[in-house]
Amino acid sequence: MADSRKLNILGIESSCDETSVAILINEEVKANLISSQHFHKAFGGVVPELSSRAHLQIVKPLVDSALKTTNLKLSDIDLITATAGPGLIGALLVGLTFAKGISFSLDKPFVAVNHIEGHIFSGFLMEQKPEFPMLVLVVSGGHTLLLYVESFTRIFLLGTTVDDAAGEAFDKVSKLLGFGYPGGPQIEASALKGNEKSIKFPVADLKDEYNFSFSGLKTSVLRFVQNNFPDRIIPEPDLNNISASFQKALVDALVQKVNIALEKHNVKSLSLVGGVAANKKLRNEFSNLAEKFNIPCIIPSLEYCGDNAAMIALRGFQLYQNGIKDQLSVTPYPAIPENHFLKLS
Ligand code: KG4
Ligand code: ZN
Repeated sequence: MADSRKLNILGIESSCDETSVAILINEEVKANLISSQHFHKAFGGVVPELSSRAHLQIVKPLVDSALKTTNLKLSDIDLITATAGPGLIGALLVGLTFAKGISFSLDKPFVAVNHIEGHIFSGFLMEQKPEFPMLVLVVSGGHTLLLYVESFTRIFLLGTTVDDAAGEAFDKVSKLLGFGYPGGPQIEASALKGNEKSIKFPVADLKDEYNFSFSGLKTSVLRFVQNNFPDRIIPEPDLNNISASFQKALVDALVQKVNIALEKHNVKSLSLVGGVAANKKLRNEFSNLAEKFNIPCIIPSLEYCGDNAAMIALRGFQLYQNGIKDQLSVTPYPAIPENHFLKLS
């Protein structure tokens, strides 16, 4: 068990195209610095090798800045945490190795954090904390997961996507419409100016209760564009209508499954997390849904929706408080290990 004195926790996140360093004192965020690799835009997506190199250049200056902002010395750090996976292996290796080096040199405990678990518990960074059991929807660039969370250590997977993740669907449709990467914020901005009822895009309703599928939706947007704008020149009003209608179809599909889960499982709170949780329409629909079931809805503020080290440090701290720490021999992993989450019988 951790001692009762408050701990200075260092968190490092480098799973994709954000290098982030955070310092927490127990659950309280003192610094959460995020350096985004905007140069990937020119390539239409994240280039793994370039990402690793950029992490390597920025990780030490970011740790130095975080210490400076918090008036702490490296030797004041009591617990070191870093993302071990899932993510780009070369990118993960940079942050994880750097963190392990600090742990070794300070002889302080180290906790390797699963990035998705960082998102799952990111609602605990908010003033109003989620209550267990809670239902959590993780919507990010690489994952769409619906989870029943009983405690800090018992996480049950209810459903996932059978093809594209929600964020991936935003990014692919964005590319198709000529907006570029990352797609979510640009589609959202365009959707604000469009009519979401103008086009009816179908979303697959899978027989498996809680699983999602978004590749059909992406294809139906593609067919619509090919049929109506064969030269791919789409006037702005049409572009906005497509964005709004696509966004509505995707949000409706997510909300529909979460509604079914809420009818079946008696939970004390609902949480929406991950990069796509920045989407205003999705945030609003989730708040309405929670209101319908008379439970609190905890959605992190925007700085904690996208990838950030504060959620990694917090998750590391929660695990440490539950008696979990890692050996420095821990290695990065690209995907969520099979059976990582529990299954409800
Ligand atoms: O969690 P995140 O920062 O990185 C991963 O772990 O994947 O999520 C990034 C994803 C991208 O697909 C991006 O397009 C999407 O989140 N995203 C949004 C919005 N902001 C970011 N999707 C919809 N609406 C937004 N406002
Ligand atoms: Zn993420």
